[in-house]
Amino acid sequence: QNEIYLAGLGGQVPAYPMSYDELERRAELAMSPGTWSYVAGGAGDERTQRANREAFDHWGLVPRMLRATTERDQSVELFGHRLPTPLLMSPIGVIGICTQDGHGDLATARAAAATGVPMIASTLTEDPMEVVAAEQGETPGFFQLYCPTDPEVAQSLVGRAEDAGYRAIVVTLDTWVTGWRPRDLSTANFPQLRGRCLANYFSDPVFRSRLAAPPDEDPGSAILAWAQMFGRPLGWDDLAWLRSLTDLPVVLKGICHPDDARRAVDEGVDGIYVSTHGGRQANGGIAAIDCLPAVREAVPDTTVLLDSGVRSGSDVVKALALGADAVGVGRPYAFGAALGGTDGIVHVLRNILAEADLLMAVDGYPTVPDLGPEAMRRL
Ligand code: FNR
Repeated sequence: QNEIYLAGLGGQVPAYPMSYDELERRAELAMSPGTWSYVAGGAGDERTQRANREAFDHWGLVPRMLRATTERDQSVELFGHRLPTPLLMSPIGVIGICTQDGHGDLATARAAAATGVPMIASTLTEDPMEVVAAEQGETPGFFQLYCPTDPEVAQSLVGRAEDAGYRAIVVTLDTWVTGWRPRDLSTANFPQLRGRCLANYFSDPVFRSRLAAPPDEDPGSAILAWAQMFGRPLGWDDLAWLRSLTDLPVVLKGICHPDDARRAVDEGVDGIYVSTHGGRQANGGIAAIDCLPAVREAVPDTTVLLDSGVRSGSDVVKALALGADAVGVGRPYAFGAALGGTDGIVHVLRNILAEADLLMAVDGYPTVPDLGPEAMRRL
């Protein structure tokens, strides 16, 4: 990872921004106002979104010396797969709006193949999930499910994900209704679903069979049908059914309370994904990273993931030390996609990983298992 830094010292000007603030600024310039609102915005007056980021400042890594080694290793084990790094790309629906060619899912999948950083493909990919899976090379991919109200459509999406080779099903719990997002509502050119193909969902054979006319002939009624069956408000009683849909590991995204984590694991869930959806769904809440220690403690033997507010290598290191097995980023790679498609995403991921690597080296935590709660101080 040092090579990025050495290239800079050697006078090589990076093609993409090095700081997150600059990345965000340039991405805003590259996007239409509607796309910018959709990607950068959050719920209400965006307090949870800000809290997600600011909370990282309340935690500090304790340096340990005389443990310097050139043998460093960022690899982690996730659902039986050895991954070269602990980073994940969180699911981003309709990411095609960020890229010039409209194929943001393919750009993400190719970045996954190039870096070994898994993509969690959204239910709302624009390219069919099978095509997206095929672009991920040797890197394992995961499929995120927004659970439809029609159980057969849910079964169809999960079955397709299995057949396409995805290695886990990530069920998002906090989006059965949309969040109150004033920025989306006040931007006239918010990216409408009409005209965006949503090929993954709209082309699903079971979903299509529920429509009076094929979606390409009558996109309006397809959108209406989709809106009616999009969000199923899941309860504890649904977990057994969800579990029965697949033999793949099932991960619940959006769990923030330790009691919820404990109960979910007791009822057979394989992974807990602590997330506040990047502050896009609810406002006035607490930061995801502040929920992590209690969740980790509640389910010590279960895979725990975290996203929301991660912007840098040091954020990743803090999340690992506070108990995450792997750490997701959302907006940073969407901004990378806006600036340079696959190249832009790869740049963003490599920067985050390089910073994490150098930080772990300098502070004497050469491998991920070296990072535990004793490495952290609450400031
Ligand atoms: C999202 N997120 C999201 N989550 C999910 O489960 N399914 C989805 O389709 C989407 N779509 C989506 C679109 C956009 C534009 C954004 C920014 C986010 C939430 C995402 O997976 C993740 O939880 C957050 O983005 C993490 O927070 P940060 O890294 O953006 O702060």
